[in-house]
Amino acid sequence: MTPILVTGGTGQLAGALAAAAPDRVRRVGRPEFDFDRPETLAASFAAVRPALVVNAAAYTAVDAAEDDAEAAYRANRDGPATLARLCAAAGIPLIHVSTDYVFDGAKGAPYVETDPVSPQGVYGASKLAGEQAVLGAGAQATILRTSWVYAAQGKNFVRTMLTVGATRDRLTVVADQRGCPTTATDLADAILAIADRIAATGWRPEYGGLFHAAGSGETTWFGLATATFEEAARHGAKVPEVAPIATADWPTKARRPADSRLDCGKLAAVFDVRLPPWRDSLARTVDAIYAPPLG
Ligand SMILES: NC(=O)c1ccc[n+]([C@@H]2O[C@H](COP(=O)([O-])OP(=O)(O)OC[C@H]3O[C@@H](n4cnc5c(N)ncnc54)[C@H](OP(=O)(O)O)[C@@H]3O)[C@@H](O)[C@H]2O)c1
Repeated sequence: MTPILVTGGTGQLAGALAAAAPDRVRRVGRPEFDFDRPETLAASFAAVRPALVVNAAAYTAVDAAEDDAEAAYRANRDGPATLARLCAAAGIPLIHVSTDYVFDGAKGAPYVETDPVSPQGVYGASKLAGEQAVLGAGAQATILRTSWVYAAQGKNFVRTMLTVGATRDRLTVVADQRGCPTTATDLADAILAIADRIAATGWRPEYGGLFHAAGSGETTWFGLATATFEEAARHGAKVPEVAPIATADWPTKARRPADSRLDCGKLAAVFDVRLPPWRDSLARTVDAIYAPPLG
């Protein structure tokens, strides 16, 4: 079976891809694949000899990036550029993952791929620079902007809520930022469907460029938190009181878009791929969090 090289070793998306297609996915991560040591990229490439590459590695610490711009740009712009050049030289497609944080959140409606970008912080700016570098590298590149990613493992909002909620009677959660929660599992399934389509038809020009790929529907962080506890209650978890607050009452180092909902119509039109409703996927993910360990 032709291998898919997936970067981002222990990350949420790389883990979900490996779980969904263990026979095809070759996961690489630090230290053997490190955007801070560019020579490791070609070495991984040569070792795996992939038919397609998925770049799921990124500097994802949104607040820390404000004080660590050089590292964020190395991982989010320079590394993906090198990866795209390697793909171009090998004549294979690259699926690169980007973010809703390229937008400022002021549109007031779901964003389409042609909307103007205006990142609010270093993370978003470095990811935008990565999109541009990948597009400029001459590779067969599909760029998927996703949003609010979480999984049953890893560091994410849903797991943080459950951890904090287990020890506190009352939580406050921002209720004036809107977006589309996306499980790593759903995004992995979408990526594999895209990879299958590319393999079946060969590369087509319409596969190149930007696509939005997020869970269907929308909510706020407050909505995601209350829904998480509704699901956790089915598993007997203690449910804290959750109180809505404004972004202004929860200061963070990096500014975040107030409304970064993504319109995923182009993904459906070109690849016939739609991610499931976020509420259904949340229920499945909370079930997985509470599932007893195997064995
Ligand atoms: N998480 C979200 O809410 C969100 C939202 C929108 C878009 N995205 C995008 O979705 C993609 C997948 O995100 P995710 O949630 O799976 O992220 P994640 O769980 O934070 O995983 C990111 C992975 O990238 C690796 N990485 C970081 N810096 C690296 C470097 N210099 N060289 C090599 N690897 C490096 C990390 O390695 P270590 O394990 O060694 O640290 C980690 O395994 C990323 O492109 C991200 O920008 C995420």
